[in-house]
Amino acid sequence: MHFFARNNGQLWAEGVSLATLAEQVGTPCYVYSRATLERHYQVMDQALAGVDHLICFAVKACSNIAILQLLARLGSGFDIVSGGELARVLRAGGDPRKVVFSGVGKQPHEIAQALQVGIHCFNVESEQELATIERIAAELGLVAPISVRVNPEVDPRTHKYIATGLKSSKFGVAADVAETMYQRAARSKHLHIVGIDCHIGSQIMEIAPFVEAVGRVVELAERLRGQGIALEHLDVGGGLGIVYRDEAPALPEQLGEAVGQIARRHHLRLIMEPGRVIVGNAGILLTRVLGIKSNGDKDFVIVDAAMNDLIRPALYDAWHRLELVGASEDRPLALVDVVGPVCESGDFLAQDRQLPTCQNGDLLAVFGAGAYGFSMSSNYNSRPRSAEVLADGSTYQVIRSRETVADLWRGEMLVG
Ligand code: LLP
Repeated sequence: MHFFARNNGQLWAEGVSLATLAEQVGTPCYVYSRATLERHYQVMDQALAGVDHLICFAVKACSNIAILQLLARLGSGFDIVSGGELARVLRAGGDPRKVVFSGVGKQPHEIAQALQVGIHCFNVESEQELATIERIAAELGLVAPISVRVNPEVDPRTHKYIATGLKSSKFGVAADVAETMYQRAARSKHLHIVGIDCHIGSQIMEIAPFVEAVGRVVELAERLRGQGIALEHLDVGGGLGIVYRDEAPALPEQLGEAVGQIARRHHLRLIMEPGRVIVGNAGILLTRVLGIKSNGDKDFVIVDAAMNDLIRPALYDAWHRLELVGASEDRPLALVDVVGPVCESGDFLAQDRQLPTCQNGDLLAVFGAGAYGFSMSSNYNSRPRSAEVLADGSTYQVIRSRETVADLWRGEMLVG
């Protein structure tokens, strides 16, 4: 469900004409729909209505401070993986007490920063990390709230780069190691056990892998309870998939029902870390056709957005729906590759795609670009990063201005 729709053949973001927006802001440009974003958050929140819960939006999916601000206003907490993400959450008015800190390589200064602002908890990824957190907390005279990230060894049946709960993954620790870590934490003056967590991957279609993983996690929670180690929350991570093409992902209500039941049964507060399902279909990438070319039997549409703007097709073979912004019913279909200006053959937004015949100057919308779109963008090929815009009813606001060429070498120095 999203609020990008056609009106008289033209594509709009809520009440904003994308053609007009492109004229005014330029391309490439990310456009988010506020109504879509807020609806997705509320759907997830309502899916968990029957259980004491906290949604911690995964900041890495889309980290613009305006997006974080809107979510914070709705009551969202945040899942962060760096001090930079923590700073963004605070800048956006997020509540540090609703922040969980995940990630396999937390740095000492980031741990100290999170302790000082009083986050909800650290999702601890190794025995060494537990010791580091304890040491830093002791140095600061503070107590660190912790949860151990358990690797439940479950196959989420998704792209191999975004599966994180396999035995071979770098994330989390095996249940027996987690048990020892809890026993150690229980004896520490500077560690306070608050929960247990897992995160098995991303763009997951079915409920079964979640239930299997969470089942293993609560098994450990019960074992710990038997040893007098009480937990307050169960964090099941993020990972619910969305429709890019013709997938049929499970619904938030189904996931909420399944994991909510488990949390209630074990008297645990539920935490979830959704990213993609909140913001994925709340954003598009708007790009303009620069030229058309044919190489033998391949036809290319060259656009002004490239792999530095949206890396998902190159990195995960991801399929994103493309549509012409203008009316196109009268144009014959053509089989094309839609490619960017970057000097790599991996620089494509779509391959072997049937599209209405494109002409120079046409605008294309790349759907499903709200999650892991701008947040994974780079300056590769010295391309300034695109603008980000929030459509809100009949108005829009630029929430990140397009980088300038001078931004490209900010911090660089000529030799003296
Ligand atoms: N929690 C943790 C600890 C995570 O590592 C992630 C995502 C999430 C929550 C949110 O997962 P989501 O609900 O968005 O699936 N760049 C890839 C996705 C990488 C996901 C990394 N971790 C892509 O574009 O498909």
